[in-house]
Amino acid sequence: MSIQTISTQPYTDQKPGTSGLRKKVRVFQQPNFLENFIQSIFNSLEGYQNQTLVVGGDGRYYNREAIQIILKMAAANGFGRVLVGLDGILSTPAASCVIRKNDAFGGIILSASHNPGGPEEDFGVKYNISNGGPAPANITDAIFAASQTITEYKLLDVSDIDLSRVASHSLGHMTVDVIDSVTDYGALMETLFDFGQIKQLLSGGQFRFCMDPLHAVTGPYATAIFERRLNAPAGTVVNGVPLEDFGGGHPDPNLVYAHDLVEIMFGEDAPDFGAASDGDGDRNMVLGKNFFVTPSDSLAILAANATLVPGYRGGLAGIARSMPTSQAPDRVAEKLGIDCYETPTGWKFFGNLLDADKATLCGEESFGTGSNHIREKDGLWAVLFWLNILAVKQQSVEDIVREHWRTYGRNYYSRHDYEGVESDRANTLITNLRQGLSAMPSKTFGSYTVDYADDFAYTDPVDGSVAEQQGIRIGFTDGSRIVFRLSGTGTSGATLRLYVESYEPDPAKHDQDTQVALADLISLADEIAQIKVLTGRDQPTVIT
Ligand code: G1P
Ligand code: ZN
Repeated sequence: MSIQTISTQPYTDQKPGTSGLRKKVRVFQQPNFLENFIQSIFNSLEGYQNQTLVVGGDGRYYNREAIQIILKMAAANGFGRVLVGLDGILSTPAASCVIRKNDAFGGIILSASHNPGGPEEDFGVKYNISNGGPAPANITDAIFAASQTITEYKLLDVSDIDLSRVASHSLGHMTVDVIDSVTDYGALMETLFDFGQIKQLLSGGQFRFCMDPLHAVTGPYATAIFERRLNAPAGTVVNGVPLEDFGGGHPDPNLVYAHDLVEIMFGEDAPDFGAASDGDGDRNMVLGKNFFVTPSDSLAILAANATLVPGYRGGLAGIARSMPTSQAPDRVAEKLGIDCYETPTGWKFFGNLLDADKATLCGEESFGTGSNHIREKDGLWAVLFWLNILAVKQQSVEDIVREHWRTYGRNYYSRHDYEGVESDRANTLITNLRQGLSAMPSKTFGSYTVDYADDFAYTDPVDGSVAEQQGIRIGFTDGSRIVFRLSGTGTSGATLRLYVESYEPDPAKHDQDTQVALADLISLADEIAQIKVLTGRDQPTVIT
């Protein structure tokens, strides 16, 4: 058993994006590609000797191989202990929970989230810091810098560890504890929600619930928590067995990709409540009987009803939402007399606000909701939160949402994605928009008058760090908005995201179809950004 020092050369393309380094599996399988990135993570950190590292992934193709390599590298680099999920599985929220609970130095999460898996699909690596959250920009910048000058990496020359049983192993001077993937997370959920009341709801025979993990990591968590702890009938969890390629599907919980669930929830005799989660378990979609709840509304509704739930009975310190997320949560914050923070896209921007107790709940329009219980968004947490509210209020999902709109007004909201656009064309579109910004204010387009137009910049109120060029915002005097940005998580070409929002206070006008309600703004967005001309696309790839 010896430490090998292996010579290597830098790869130029190891810059982490919105959420870690995401590439095709084939890219990660190039000689030393993964090893270089892992060593670059270690090289950019200080003080981890003899400390604890958490390692786990969403179980996608290449998870097993990658974990064995990481364990041997962690041992060779001097970590004292690694906690690794059974079979190498940890959902992203569970990894965050395990890091915090065990005072770990940090964690490495292997996931490409909602991107498809398999030999020809995507893989990803993300480093999380000791608060359990994604590494902030100063660390990801340092990792990238280290990856550009790397000359060697260290690996312990040992055989693979058996990850199929909960057990403790020695790897040189390091201990590897294979832990049950669900235990710590399940225990944390029990401290936040009224499991007794939810159990009554789920096992009473009246209320029907369908949970679809899309053959991804949440399967074992959902089965353990809903069917075993909360007595939901067997079969409540569908597509619950995690598969390395997610059954060939796209593990993204939205109306397009969660089609099995959508069919059930919009079919005849639909259950009362349906939910889906993504590849690594941090996203969620919630549905009522024939009814879709937008993620932005979901955040607003959880916030408005938070005191019904034990973990939040004391009230909220504040709410935080990403800039493109609808302004529905802002209205709740205003009524509660608390702050609502607007951050750039990506969960890493919430970490400081949560650590400083400035925000309790956070969310993104991209089907992410979470709170200060961990430092990642959390799919099952959101589902449990909804179940707790449903158990207390004894109303349907639709009634709860409509009541919310009556109180606060409705923010019509939609996101249009243009995937796989040629990068040059996408960059031109954004550059053109940027150049036109200063001439925008006070311009009128039909009935819309521009109130402000900028490229969103954020100054973190806790550490003063600045993030610039986070998306083009054009706000109109009636409160509606158009936002444009390029995705930072894709692995081929560019994805243009267009976010459109309008506000309707009048309950008599809350029944429109979203795309119809937003039609004028959507064509205005095309007029301003020349989307069709520049992308060469007639319509978006995905509308959520
Ligand atoms: C997308 C979402 C963003 C989310 C991220 C990771 O990033 O838009 O809200 O935090 O995935 O799940 P994007 O591809 O837009 O950079
Ligand atoms: Zn995810």
